[in-house]
Amino acid sequence: MHAMFQSVSDQPAVPISFVTRSSWDTIRAGLPEAAQRFAAAAGYNGKPGQYLALPTAEGDIGHVLFGLDEADAKGHDPFRPGALPGLLPAGSYRFANAPHDARLAVLAFALGAYKFGRYRHAEPSAVKLVPPDGIDVAAISRTAEAVALARDLINTPANDMGPAELAEAAQVLAQRFGATFDTIVGDDLATRNFPLIRAVGMASTRAPRLIDLTWGDASHPRVTLVGKGVCFDTGGLDLKPSSAMLIMKKDMGGAANVLALASMIMDAGLKLRLRVLIPAVENAVAGNAMRPLDIFASRKGPTVEIGNTDAEGRLVLADALAYADEEAPDLLIDLGTLTGAARVALGPDLPPYYTNDEALALDLARHAKAEHDPLWRMPLWAPYDSWLDSKVANINNAPSGGFAGSITCALFLQRFVEAARSWLHVDIYGWTPKAKPGRPEGGECQAARAIFALLSERYG
Ligand code: BES
Ligand code: MN
Ligand code: ZN
Repeated sequence: MHAMFQSVSDQPAVPISFVTRSSWDTIRAGLPEAAQRFAAAAGYNGKPGQYLALPTAEGDIGHVLFGLDEADAKGHDPFRPGALPGLLPAGSYRFANAPHDARLAVLAFALGAYKFGRYRHAEPSAVKLVPPDGIDVAAISRTAEAVALARDLINTPANDMGPAELAEAAQVLAQRFGATFDTIVGDDLATRNFPLIRAVGMASTRAPRLIDLTWGDASHPRVTLVGKGVCFDTGGLDLKPSSAMLIMKKDMGGAANVLALASMIMDAGLKLRLRVLIPAVENAVAGNAMRPLDIFASRKGPTVEIGNTDAEGRLVLADALAYADEEAPDLLIDLGTLTGAARVALGPDLPPYYTNDEALALDLARHAKAEHDPLWRMPLWAPYDSWLDSKVANINNAPSGGFAGSITCALFLQRFVEAARSWLHVDIYGWTPKAKPGRPEGGECQAARAIFALLSERYG
């Protein structure tokens, strides 16, 4: 169980009343008179996010009030209770009434307590929650732990999270759940025919590798996850400007989220045969770096012209997707921090997803909403496919012009998927630029919770 949760507490847990502007009058009327006077003196009116600790006659905290927006309010945020671990003094708490969505509120509480403490001491949250009845605390704990894993991996700077360390994290996970684990490293990528993974990763002193994890009953439906594991993206020779390079330690966000999703799947014991493939590389600059207009063969066959060395994510995913596709999985899913264009279109908090499977698209939209893990469908717009044409090779990795950059990236990847029964691609951001309730600034788990809910429904 997540460290935040307490099944029984030795001290009575302090009740938290969730208040909205419309329910405040009723809730206030139910409080003892001294508490009503204290709330009035403090100017409390239950506005969203407003917090007040009410004292007992002895001067202890007897009751907490916390303002929520109305359930039908524009921009209603079910994660708002995620602000509480940052507001409450140390102690044990319980919900006195139901927030709009108790399950998401409890999850947000756990996610809001996350701290990245690897490089300086961060006191773990001393706020404990006795979860309300009827909540699957084990499931929420699994999710919160997976989210923390993704955040930790992303937040760890690139000097301590290179291809080898990313592989080690995958191996730890594999060992925990009895999955088989394998890697193809360095020159072996050439002999085993992963030319694009090698082309992107070869300029780094830290050898590129393909991480390969397999778990579950071989007779179950095959679900394969592929995550972009670019441990740092300088842009290669078409170097990124410093402002754009600054947070590129997060460019393995796809890999981190795929591992978080794998952890939830294995922990829950879903009835599927799981495979995780992570091309782990560093897009570095050196004399042997790939150059603009270099041409490489891909694993699948088509030759790829390098229009821009900064469009490296689609290159490593192309070989990994082709490899995944060779065993014709029932469902092939890739996640990656692939384009700045996705952020321009939809902002950092709403990743676009792409699929031609209409049922999958609808199911995913429904789960994204229910899990408050927002995703938005964008089209695999066939008329733009010809933008990927090269004059000298079979395909170019970076169409000139830059229009519809997230769509053309998805179309690039689509060229390498053929046999999979169904394919889903999510162009995530993997980062919260400005803290929000339940979402501290820094690395973020995106799409994994929504996809897990979908997989649980299908293979639970
Ligand atoms: N990792 C970046 C995409 C990215 C940038 C994600 C900023 C989130 C924030 C990716 O490798 C990249 O550089 N993409 C290029 C592609 C272009 C050269 C076709 C981009 O989006 O500019
Ligand atoms: Mn790049
Ligand atoms: Zn990148």
